[in-house]
Amino acid sequence: MQKAIIVGATSGIGKSLALLLADNGYKVGIIGRRENLLAELHTEKPNTFYSLAFDVTANGLEENLQILTKQLDGLDLLIFSAGIGELNKDLNIDLELPTIDVNVKAFNKVVIWAFHYFEKQKTGQIAVISSIAGLRGGGIAPAYNASKAYQINYLEGLRQKVRKQKLAISITDARPGFVDTAMAKAEEKFWMATPEKAALQIFNAIKTKKNVIYITKRWRIIAWFLKLMPSYLYERI
Ligand SMILES: NC(=O)c1ccc[n+]([C@@H]2O[C@H](COP(=O)([O-])OP(=O)(O)OC[C@H]3O[C@@H](n4cnc5c(N)ncnc54)[C@H](OP(=O)(O)O)[C@@H]3O)[C@@H](O)[C@H]2O)c1
Repeated sequence: MQKAIIVGATSGIGKSLALLLADNGYKVGIIGRRENLLAELHTEKPNTFYSLAFDVTANGLEENLQILTKQLDGLDLLIFSAGIGELNKDLNIDLELPTIDVNVKAFNKVVIWAFHYFEKQKTGQIAVISSIAGLRGGGIAPAYNASKAYQINYLEGLRQKVRKQKLAISITDARPGFVDTAMAKAEEKFWMATPEKAALQIFNAIKTKKNVIYITKRWRIIAWFLKLMPSYLYERI
């Protein structure tokens, strides 16, 4: 039986992924701060879901991952779906720093922990839900875009490391556009996917060991435009 941990499984994409993995025979360790939501999932499938409620920005993150892995009796896949981000038109530093704590620092701790675990085991899969927002800067939520750029760049670095060390670790970077969750905070939204559809596309990408995917697929077109757009034009949109 395959074993997975999802960091950020209480709602949205992470929760849909947890349910999908369960339906596909995985034993799933679920993490988030909202204990009641983890308990609901556990009650639904007590032999499938192993939950641990904690804040990924607090001390003891690696120890908690270890505890959950022990309960699962191993680990094949780690998904980092935790994320926060605030619209910050007034550029308030108190809104920016928590985003860095979760999307950069906690992300970094989790992927390094998983990488070393899979390195020792000689195989494993890491998947992270980054964002199309990471492709360019964002005037409305600068820390959010920058944190997602960090994730995208970091994951590319890990893939290079994997290739050079000839490791059997797959690193999947899933970049959604808009998904219908509490995180879709932009005023104008389009091509919005349901969390279930997003989860299915991410699961298929993990199964086929894809490096990078856009959720949904047509967001690749937007990505292409974003990457090509010169700064003088981008700054005006
Ligand atoms: N929805 C979109 O349009 C969209 C687009 C692009 C990228 N994304 C990315 O997709 C990922 C998943 O977001 P979502 O859309 O599914 O939104 P969501 O429903 O708000 O999910 C966010 C998850 O992160 C967890 N989390 C946040 N802070 C945490 C902390 N300090 N400690 C532990 N867990 C924490 C939340 O759990 P608790 O609150 O229970 O702690 C929740 O399970 C995020 O990284 C987001 O940036 C979303």
